[in-house]
Amino acid sequence: MTEPDGIEARLDEIERRCRPLSVEGRVADYIPALGRVPPSKFGMAIAYADGREAWIGDAEEPFSIQSISKVFSLAHALEAIGEDLWRRVGREPSGMAFNSMALLEHEDGIPRNPLINAGAIVVADALLEIRPDWTEAQLDWLGRLAESGGAAFDEEVFASEERHGDLNRSIAWYLKAKDNLRTSPEAATRAYFRACSAAMSCRELARAARFLVRPGCGPAAEHFARPGLRRRIRAIMRTCGLYDAAGDFAYRVGLPAKSGVGGGILAIEPGKFAVAVWSPALDAKGNSLAGQAALEMLVGEAG
Ligand code: DON
Repeated sequence: MTEPDGIEARLDEIERRCRPLSVEGRVADYIPALGRVPPSKFGMAIAYADGREAWIGDAEEPFSIQSISKVFSLAHALEAIGEDLWRRVGREPSGMAFNSMALLEHEDGIPRNPLINAGAIVVADALLEIRPDWTEAQLDWLGRLAESGGAAFDEEVFASEERHGDLNRSIAWYLKAKDNLRTSPEAATRAYFRACSAAMSCRELARAARFLVRPGCGPAAEHFARPGLRRRIRAIMRTCGLYDAAGDFAYRVGLPAKSGVGGGILAIEPGKFAVAVWSPALDAKGNSLAGQAALEMLVGEAG
């Protein structure tokens, strides 16, 4: 039951059943600033294509969007660069953890897809070449899309990512060695970390993602003029958005989605709505445990 009428009662029930599930997961602590977030937080927000909204719990509290930013960076890059982007990054699921380097060596420095770290670092590099201040522009643009006057930037998370980012820097150096980096490993990882350090609430995220629901949906929708852009981004979310859990999530929920280690998941029901859920405790694959359950409950037996 995902129609706007009666959705509040449905969200109430989802919160009641899913918030307690966080005890079975673990908050990400490899970025220490994320490890301090209380695991019991739970928020969910739906932004319908017609402008209606519904939300529950901690849906108005900003959290670190982390890898969810990769969807917005990809949209930005595809709009700016177009199909040439695919010369430098693939669009197949990786079946690997988000920060794995294993395939990069086999595939000669071409990351499997833009939603794993290696691919997102290539996207960050490609955007830097066009516009050195793209991460600031993206924060402004996210704020416009979310109608919130600018997405917040979490300096503490950014500093923490920089301090503990050796694996991402290794990926960037490897990309450079394989001639798939045009700026520098330092600049590309810094931009990537900056994009991941945006803080948004579930309400803001769901509103900001309305442009993916259908053409002309949400403010600044005109920013995306390329035909087929939304469908293509949703396809990559569906196949690659939850890394090595993408198949299981597709089976359970069936919506294009993107997770972040901050505990957020953004999902899109094409033509109908964008939904964001936040519960910081993660499962073994780095995806919000209660967040996945909440989306599964939301779609219920639909279809
Ligand atoms: O690169 C990292 O490790 C983080 N900035 C982002 C990771 C992330 O959110 C992966 N998603 N589930």
